[in-house]
Amino acid sequence: MYFSKIAGTGSYLPEKRMTNHDLEKIVETSHDWIIERTGIVERRIAGPSEATSDLGLKAAGRALEMANMSAKDIDSIIFATVSPDQPIPSTACFLQNSLGARPIMAFDLVAACSGFVYGLSLTDQMIKTGMIKTGLVVGAEVLSRIVNYEDRDTCILFGDGAGAAIVTRAEEGEPSKILSHHIHSDGSLHHLFETIGGGTRKPLSPEVIENREHYMKMKGREIFKHAVRTLTQCCEEAIQANGFSGEDIDWLVPHQANIRILEAVAKSFSIPMEKVIVNIEKYGNTSAATVPIALDEAVRDGRIKRGQLVLLTAFGAGLTSGSSLLRF
Ligand code: ACO
Repeated sequence: MYFSKIAGTGSYLPEKRMTNHDLEKIVETSHDWIIERTGIVERRIAGPSEATSDLGLKAAGRALEMANMSAKDIDSIIFATVSPDQPIPSTACFLQNSLGARPIMAFDLVAACSGFVYGLSLTDQMIKTGMIKTGLVVGAEVLSRIVNYEDRDTCILFGDGAGAAIVTRAEEGEPSKILSHHIHSDGSLHHLFETIGGGTRKPLSPEVIENREHYMKMKGREIFKHAVRTLTQCCEEAIQANGFSGEDIDWLVPHQANIRILEAVAKSFSIPMEKVIVNIEKYGNTSAATVPIALDEAVRDGRIKRGQLVLLTAFGAGLTSGSSLLRF
């Protein structure tokens, strides 16, 4: 059996900023409410000609550069997203083409905000078995196209962005190594966050559009409670399975949904907030992209260093959840 490591990370955020004050002009809300209840100050919005794979391409390019590799070196692409370029074909296939990768395995993974952690775990397993040597995992979203800007419960939270990681076989004795994954789902809670219209159950129709059912709908307060509980469980599983305690964790890189959720999770492990990578104030919730963007920023600014113990954790619509523990 082989082990794998993250060889490079990358991210890309569109230039356009949407501030809380911009949102005040669209829905009944306030900058102070949004900051106090979520920690978000602004989020990025993709340009009219930017699709999800375009964002993913830029993040992937930066990850390849850091890994000192080219697109020809990768053996798989897993593209985690809930906002694909179009229903058919997969966004991963668009990326395979625009990257100039070989005719490798490429597919989309739908696990909402947990998508990157799900994708990382699959890529790690494929490397472990020897099926592939190097895989690209992308988490990217253009949520601004599926957000209802008449619904203040959701529109204040979400933004656009992309993050990526190159995962490759670790050599014997290297300090960098992916240690474990714990991945879950609970479909009985699907109703807490969903887009009802536009699928086979309720195909797109003038009625669906009129009722705005092609947009994301969320029961925020209930999700909040589940988020704190499931994130805490996922972290606990990772820490216990590897014989560590919260104090051993150098960096917690959680899904960026709400600063209050992050504070609650960190507190339950006595992990000080200085060890939690937080960028929600700049980008809001970018679903599958939050974890790889946060990871990339912390790697590039020197906070996360080789050999350090890093815990990634996420939860999202489904409900899905998961954690990955690694020596970076
Ligand atoms: N501006 C001002 N007031 C608002 C806004 C707003 N944007 N939104 C709601 N309110 C009001 C409500 O109407 C309510 O008023 P009322 O008391 O008169 O009824 C009051 O504020 C409190 O509403 P709550 O919903 O209880 O507010 P809460 O403190 O729970 O914050 C929030 C709402 C931010 C959505 C929070 O519940 C949350 O972050 N939940 C988790 C959401 C999440 O993580 N989603 C993503 C995961 S799923 C995925 O995969 C994409």
